[in-house]
Amino acid sequence: MIKQGGTYVVMGLLDHESISYAVGKTIEKFGGKVIYTVQNEKFKRVFLDRGSELSEDEVNALNIEFCDVTIDEQIKTLFEKIGRIDGVVHSIAFANPRTCLGAEFHTDAVDDIKQGFHISCVSLARVTKYAQLAMPQGGSVVTLTFDSRNAYAFYNWMSVNKAALEALVRNLARRHGKDLVRVNAVSAGPLFTKAASKIPGFGNLSDTWQVISPLPWDTEADKYEIANAVAFLLGPYSKKITGQTVFVDGGASIIGGQMLPHERAAVEATV
Ligand SMILES: NC(=O)c1ccc[n+]([C@@H]2O[C@H](COP(=O)([O-])OP(=O)(O)OC[C@H]3O[C@@H](n4cnc5c(N)ncnc54)[C@H](O)[C@@H]3O)[C@@H](O)[C@H]2O)c1
Repeated sequence: MIKQGGTYVVMGLLDHESISYAVGKTIEKFGGKVIYTVQNEKFKRVFLDRGSELSEDEVNALNIEFCDVTIDEQIKTLFEKIGRIDGVVHSIAFANPRTCLGAEFHTDAVDDIKQGFHISCVSLARVTKYAQLAMPQGGSVVTLTFDSRNAYAFYNWMSVNKAALEALVRNLARRHGKDLVRVNAVSAGPLFTKAASKIPGFGNLSDTWQVISPLPWDTEADKYEIANAVAFLLGPYSKKITGQTVFVDGGASIIGGQMLPHERAAVEATV
């Protein structure tokens, strides 16, 4: 599914709940090598502290670099340092939950809005610019988004960032076609992670999925379904796909209204 022995940079590791961790494990399962990035030294400690179930060998085998995506020099240095790569996963977002998410959409905290836009959207362009130099024969960049075609309660300015991120994916795909670098997004349904826990009313979002998703949706286990789709977009089976937002959300995004009781799955799917 991915290039055997290929090297992939997976950005945005926080803990074992992170989507990036599921993506990294999946890449390794399919025969790739993973370089994770964490925001800074403190975040690496957070990851190791919360990962007490990892053996010493597993910890030693982890390749973890630092990169704060608001600091251009760090992005540049990262991609100069690590040598040739085959792809990048951008699994990064932030918006101040006190001002940019919540019951009230309007906020006077314009600097917080700008910070959220920089981290959650603009950073994909900065990462792609420098990562492309480490992919001289082409490669794949994949980012993570959440349905921006609809306005959800509480998600507010992050929804605006995600709409911009999806537009950025299309523009980057156009710009980097000549470099044979593809750029795509996976639009995931709600999953329990640290970032999700910061969204006031996240429970409401996950409950919504139970009534609008045609396929059963599991906010824990389906992280690995997201990871499978990311691996597909990283690898050679998606060679002619670029600029797309691929929905991996149980189908929720195509439903008008709610799923009615007679439309629900009677049993858990096995395939
Ligand atoms: N959890 C969900 O329900 C869900 C659904 C759809 C999309 N997503 C997206 O998936 C991506 C990963 O989120 P997650 O849910 O795994 O949460 P997470 O909290 O595990 O990951 C978010 C990561 O962003 C990083 N980050 C924030 N600011 C940064 C900065 N300045 N520099 C570098 N890194 C920075 C954090 O350190 C963290 O590692 C995000 O883009 C999120 O919006 C999540």
